[in-house]
Amino acid sequence: MIAKSTIDQVYESARIEEVIGDFVQLKKSGSNFKALSPFTDERTPSFMVSPVKQIWKDFSSGKGGNVVAFLMEHEHFSYPEAIRYLARKYGIEIEETVQTDEQKELADEKESLFIASTYAQKIFEENLWESDKGKAIGLTYFKERGFTPETIKKFSLGYSLDEWEAFTKRALKDGYSQEVLVKTGLSIHRDKTASQEAKTFDRFKGRVMFPIHSMSGRVLGFGGRILGQDKKAAKYMNSPESLIYHKSKVLYGIYYAKQAIAKEDNCYLVEGYTDVIQMHQLGIENVVASSGTALTPEQIRLIRRLTTQVTVLFDGDAAGLRASLRGIDLILEQGMNVKVCAFPEGEDPDSFARANSLEEMHLYLEENSKDFIQFKTSLLVAEGGSDPIKRANTVRDIVGSIALIPDRIKREIYIQECARIMGVSEEVLFNTLAQISSKNRQEQAKSVRKQAEAFQVIKPSEQAAVKVDTQYELERKIIEMLLLYGNEQEAFEDYVYKENEEGELVLEQEQVEAKVYEKIYLDLQEDEIELTHELFRMIYYKLMEEMNEREDFTLNTFMNQLDQNLISEISSILMEDEKYSLHQWERKNIYPKEKAQSVSQLVSETILTLRCYLIKKRIESLQEGTDNLETDHQEALEEIIRYLELNKLLNTKLNRVLS
Ligand code: CTP
Ligand code: MN
Repeated sequence: MIAKSTIDQVYESARIEEVIGDFVQLKKSGSNFKALSPFTDERTPSFMVSPVKQIWKDFSSGKGGNVVAFLMEHEHFSYPEAIRYLARKYGIEIEETVQTDEQKELADEKESLFIASTYAQKIFEENLWESDKGKAIGLTYFKERGFTPETIKKFSLGYSLDEWEAFTKRALKDGYSQEVLVKTGLSIHRDKTASQEAKTFDRFKGRVMFPIHSMSGRVLGFGGRILGQDKKAAKYMNSPESLIYHKSKVLYGIYYAKQAIAKEDNCYLVEGYTDVIQMHQLGIENVVASSGTALTPEQIRLIRRLTTQVTVLFDGDAAGLRASLRGIDLILEQGMNVKVCAFPEGEDPDSFARANSLEEMHLYLEENSKDFIQFKTSLLVAEGGSDPIKRANTVRDIVGSIALIPDRIKREIYIQECARIMGVSEEVLFNTLAQISSKNRQEQAKSVRKQAEAFQVIKPSEQAAVKVDTQYELERKIIEMLLLYGNEQEAFEDYVYKENEEGELVLEQEQVEAKVYEKIYLDLQEDEIELTHELFRMIYYKLMEEMNEREDFTLNTFMNQLDQNLISEISSILMEDEKYSLHQWERKNIYPKEKAQSVSQLVSETILTLRCYLIKKRIESLQEGTDNLETDHQEALEEIIRYLELNKLLNTKLNRVLS
């Protein structure tokens, strides 16, 4: 277990904007930062980070929380993993309270898969650098490919010995369970058959190993390349899908490339492991690989957190190029700008990077990177020649790609551009665009309708929830005030009945100095009001306790001791008003009524409104009671009268507060 003192230190050191900034491209927006949501697929930013409050909120998915909650959501870390990650980032030494064998067992399954993968990476590296076979075979191979020792170390490349059970046996001996080894795909289990014994053996036997890392540098899986030219076996063997490795969600090299991608505001996309490594070694670090398959939307989203500009690099063979063109439409659809760059016949980024200097590579990329639409147009026009049917198909194909671009202005510019390249009138292209767009829209409408139908079942209750729940809103407001201003000293205006010289009762104004939390506590207690919503009630009592006990109350230390559920609720409450700045509703004049001018006014207003509301409800239920003649009639009537008087008093106070 991580010691409490370490956790405290981590919370004190971690700056939320720095931590999130490693994963998401944050833009300053007033006192906050905003960004495209890393959790959904969106084009206008709805993700907010508040350095002042040290929390984040994602308005499109509804998620939110503190710095730890972000790491848990985004990196799928467990709580201790998130703390460890932050400790590493801020150079805090982790103090452990007893570390036992049991803890290894207790760690969740995913964690144990991560641990086994990291272990495997270490073993493969050890094989490569220290064993005779590894040095003679693996290291020699990498060196022949032109990788320097620094590069090999940087990418944690390794070697899996050419024996059926070398890795599996060693891992078992070191305490890794067969189950975990099989689940990571490092080992393969074969059950007993009539002719063969049951057996657990190494998946990557005799291969050089490329560990595949997550955005934050954890080992998710491996690619293993066979040595030599064995035609029967696949050249590359990859980890199978597992709890931690999802082929469609990873990009090889993203961990090493993320900073350069954000900095250069461009991402080079290549096909293979060796392309990434060779380009890095040359000095171009903003490069990732799709590992030989068509890019998936999840992978594009991974890049889009860092930049909106992708340059796809092609091997110099025409067949691969045609196939890739189709995949690129997907990138356009995500609102990214796409360039393409083809390498000379017979070359891939790996071989080209090896044979050229950094300057030559830069020059080549600069001169040969073409805007995707222009590139595709030129290519198809050249292929189609003057055959009218082929030309018509070309027009439809190109305009089909253009139709996918979300930005209308960009679409129009492309239409003009392509009309020029194809030698067709703009009018023809615009007409085709209109046809395709309307067809796309119809299809979209159809799928939206389908989704709506699927939702039908839960609609009624959803509508019920939309009806404003006054009490809920007021209780929430109270929590918000406590969180934001609870510990502040304020001067509250109160109104009390006093007897004047003539002996009449008159309402007089009185000023009372108090901390906001005290005022709220005392006022609510006066009417014996309990918050009805459980989460609010929990937060309320925890806050009261903490503020009572600690002079130096801070939101950060307070949240530190809550569970994620409460933290998430608190973040939503705190970020509520940021939502308006995000959508610039203010400008559109739908910003909600200006807040009370002072904190004390806001507090008084809210509490009085809640009290009035509750009294009204109480009166209503008493009236129902008298109708039913269930309670003692006379007594109930008297109570109603008392409440009506109180209500009148409170309303008077409320009006004065508001005036
Ligand atoms: N790939 C794979 N399985 C294969 C072949 C390829 O997963 N059987 C993936 C690998 O990620 C590989 C990428 O596709 O890096 C590109 O394939 P290819 O161009 O054939 O490999 P190179 O990276 O050029 O590898 P090398 O130079 O080592 O031959
Ligand atoms: Mn290659």
